[in-house]
Amino acid sequence: MSYFKGKTVIVTGASSGIGEATAKEFLLQGARVILVSRSESKMQDSFKDFSQDSYSIYPYDLTNLDEIDSFAKMLIAKEGPVDILFNNAGVSQFGYFEESDLSVLDKIMELDFFSVVQFTKSILPHMVSKKSGQIVTNTSVAGLVGSRNRSFYSSAKFALHGFFDSIRSEIIHHNVHVTLIAPGRVATDVGRNALTSSGAPYGKDDRGHQKGLTSSVAAKRILKAIKNKKREAVIAKWNDIAWLAVYIRKFSPSFYFFLARRIVA
Ligand SMILES: NC(=O)c1ccc[n+]([C@@H]2O[C@H](COP(=O)([O-])OP(=O)(O)OC[C@H]3O[C@@H](n4cnc5c(N)ncnc54)[C@H](OP(=O)(O)O)[C@@H]3O)[C@@H](O)[C@H]2O)c1
Repeated sequence: MSYFKGKTVIVTGASSGIGEATAKEFLLQGARVILVSRSESKMQDSFKDFSQDSYSIYPYDLTNLDEIDSFAKMLIAKEGPVDILFNNAGVSQFGYFEESDLSVLDKIMELDFFSVVQFTKSILPHMVSKKSGQIVTNTSVAGLVGSRNRSFYSSAKFALHGFFDSIRSEIIHHNVHVTLIAPGRVATDVGRNALTSSGAPYGKDDRGHQKGLTSSVAAKRILKAIKNKKREAVIAKWNDIAWLAVYIRKFSPSFYFFLARRIVA
């Protein structure tokens, strides 16, 4: 029997890309899935082939930080106990710091960091009271190494690693586990939706994401990492430069920064 059978999972950013593929994989493995993103119509369309009893759709803009607490409590009241929260929704960046408006940093931090911290804060008492749960967060290889054009995005994703590495040790005695997923390139619209220096979406798909893992392969690996309660899992194609970057940064930082000046990822 699948490890996920009968479990209830919240997936944020479920309308496309990794969130959509991961939610589908959870459904295929017998979980009940609570789908959250802004676009109700995209979620309705993407999940129409699954049994309607197995998922619920909740359109929500996670940058409404003040309302996340009541939103999370409403989800628990309506849907019952939650076993896994997958904080997946996020937005990337493509722009040099010197040229970027600081309002772009606000936007990225709001969604990629503050909404995750708030959702975690809101769901944690529920998991603590039932003495079980798993909080899974989609960070990025950009949360492990810095690279050009990603200063704000990396700030948010590094912050997630610091935050979750800290609370992991605080909450494990409640039997609540923390798993960080750090993808390299996955073929989604993340590059197209990335915010440029003005805050407008980049709008093009020319930075190699489509050469990365398919979202369905990434989803299978993500579920495996969740099942094995991995602390941290890098999810990337074997030949993705992201793998190398993580190890070179760790073991030969000078070489890493030599390369980072020359490569635009
Ligand atoms: N693809 C990659 O190569 C890659 C690599 C490393 C990390 N990641 C991370 O993976 C996660 C998923 O990205 P993706 O690649 O699947 O990109 P994507 O296709 O652009 O998906 C982003 C998801 O986030 C949702 N979202 C955006 N703004 C939101 C908001 N304000 N409130 C609620 N939901 C919102 C979007 O749905 P709506 O527009 O309907 O709201 C969408 O479902 C992100 O955290 C990203 O940083 C991706």
